[in-house]
Amino acid sequence: MKTFATAFFALFLSACMGAQSQAPQSLQGAPAPYWSYKMCKGCHDRLVEQHAESYHEKSFTNPAFQGQYFRELLPRVKSEPDLAKEARECIACHSPITYMTSGTYPERPEQVVPELSGVTCDFCHTVTGYKDPTPGNGSYVSEPGERKFGPFRHEYNWHHVYGPLQTTSEFCGICHNATNRHGLQIKSTYSEWRESRFARDGIECQSCHMNRKGYLVVGKAMYESGQAAHITPGQAPYRRKLYTHRFLGAHSRTQITAGGAIALRIELEESAGNEIIAHVVVDNKKTGHKMPSGSSDLRLLWLEVNVTMGDKTVSVPADSRGETDPYAVAGKDISDREMLGGDIPEGSRIYRSVFVDGGGRPTLSSYDAVAVAFDNRLNAAEVRQETYRFAVPHDTTGRVAVTARLQYLPYPSSFTRRFGLTKEEPYEIAAVRKVIMLK
Ligand code: HEC
Ligand code: HEC
Ligand code: HEC
Ligand code: HEC
Ligand code: HEC
Repeated sequence: MKTFATAFFALFLSACMGAQSQAPQSLQGAPAPYWSYKMCKGCHDRLVEQHAESYHEKSFTNPAFQGQYFRELLPRVKSEPDLAKEARECIACHSPITYMTSGTYPERPEQVVPELSGVTCDFCHTVTGYKDPTPGNGSYVSEPGERKFGPFRHEYNWHHVYGPLQTTSEFCGICHNATNRHGLQIKSTYSEWRESRFARDGIECQSCHMNRKGYLVVGKAMYESGQAAHITPGQAPYRRKLYTHRFLGAHSRTQITAGGAIALRIELEESAGNEIIAHVVVDNKKTGHKMPSGSSDLRLLWLEVNVTMGDKTVSVPADSRGETDPYAVAGKDISDREMLGGDIPEGSRIYRSVFVDGGGRPTLSSYDAVAVAFDNRLNAAEVRQETYRFAVPHDTTGRVAVTARLQYLPYPSSFTRRFGLTKEEPYEIAAVRKVIMLK
């Protein structure tokens, strides 16, 4: 039975290989040695469906990437030759098969084979190592071919092979950590994880991002189970643990909204002198790295606190650090109000990192950044407390309600406007309300 299944399998795969010679030509005209995700259909349908929804499949077609790459970076390459190396690196992570097969970087979207354009199945499953001492900057080694490296131990046939690297965070770190041409670390999700308690406890990126939920529930990963492949004749074995390939992240609202990853609490304290003190607790215990992470130069997370007394609602600014202007970068003569203004209500506590260019100006172009001027993002597993104080007028009676909302915006409108992209609306990650009755 086994031999029969294997023989059939070999036949099926060789049919796939045959189809490959009709595959679209890569940049330099050679047939792509990698397989399209369409060739995994029929056997790995569930995974193909999940992968198609993921941001990995869209990493090249993503309009935000194309805007920054084609409309901002490439036009500058002619006058600033050291940007050519950056351009090639963008492609290493955002279109790795193009990088492997072309030896250069595309100047027009049409030069990239559509079905091989993203971080696709056959790329991830042919990575065998990385060149730098620590993972980062897309320094992978990829060996395309019949062998697909994955998590099943002690097993070998000519299609599926145990790949220990694929089971570790180092594999993800190859693309989720980056240093730019000025030597500045501009992406550090892997380093942030490395320094967190999750790394010490052996909780890998995959444990959170490749389970059904996209985060841990009471410290546990809720995996899928079933068959990894459907083949007839013969049966693929039942597996207790299968990995979800949606790669839920902050772009996937399902993960972070509706009782998702970050929690909020309010503790109220009535102090002397008609003052109420609200302690707002932001609980990031379920995130295995800083929040926001990844392209942290673009991401904005903020806390809005409002108080309702009678029929009046007012917003209250956080005073825990004595800052009144949320856009002023403490101790430096820098403000990112111009870059962010309008998107975030006055008085909000913004969690973000501010990159500055050689002229000391805040920038959203990570390849121009020379320093991180400010970074108050939530740490992995951190529980942060913000304090708000407000005076209650003497004649106030009845209900006083304090509302806290945590909002997330993938990029500010100054970024989307620059590339003519649809404006992103902020979405609510968590909200909480606490009421006290005054005598
Ligand atoms: C971003 C990289 C990445 C992409 C893209 C990707 N995979 Fe995976 N895949 C992994 C990793 C990592 C694991 C193993 C996780 C572990 O062991 O912790 C895995 C596990 C698997 C498994 C083992 C069985 C299972 O269901 O968990 C199969 C089969 C598989 N992938 C096939 C595919 C196919 C088919 C596609 C495209 C439709 C795909 N992968 C896309 C990284 C990727
Ligand atoms: C003809 C059916 C078939 C096709 C087509 C196919 N696979 Fe598989 N694949 C299987 C079977 C069967 C297994 C073993 C499942 C098991 O043992 O649970 C498997 C296992 C795997 C594994 C797990 C490796 C390991 O040892 O951990 C990976 C990764 C994988 N396939 C990737 C791919 C990718 C990527 C493609 C498309 C480029 C693809 N497969 C196309 C049938 C297929
Ligand atoms: C070949 C490079 C590469 C590898 C390897 C890789 N990623 Fe990614 N990943 C990307 C790129 C590029 C994006 C951004 C896609 C976009 O938004 O356009 C991304 C996006 C994501 C997102 C979505 C983030 C969001 O904001 O929603 C998650 C989650 C993620 N990756 C997790 C992982 C994990 C976990 C691994 C390891 C199992 C991994 N990635 C391996 C390149 C990679
Ligand atoms: C303990 C669980 C956990 C671990 C471990 C973990 N993540 Fe995450 N990750 C999350 C959660 C939860 C979010 C969504 C953020 C939120 O809303 O709290 C997230 C968000 C992200 C994002 C989007 C960030 C943003 O702000 O836009 C990326 C990219 C990402 N993770 C990649 C990784 C990589 C790569 C690793 C391993 C180095 C990893 N994650 C390890 C839970 C985890
Ligand atoms: C080392 C790998 C790597 C390199 C090099 C890289 N990126 Fe990325 N890029 C990523 C990852 C991973 C993400 C997703 C992080 C997250 O979700 O926050 C991302 C996200 C982005 C986003 C945000 C997409 C979105 O919709 O949220 C843009 C825009 C972007 N990259 C542009 C570029 C450009 C332009 C370059 C070259 C100058 C570049 N990247 C180089 C890995 C890389």
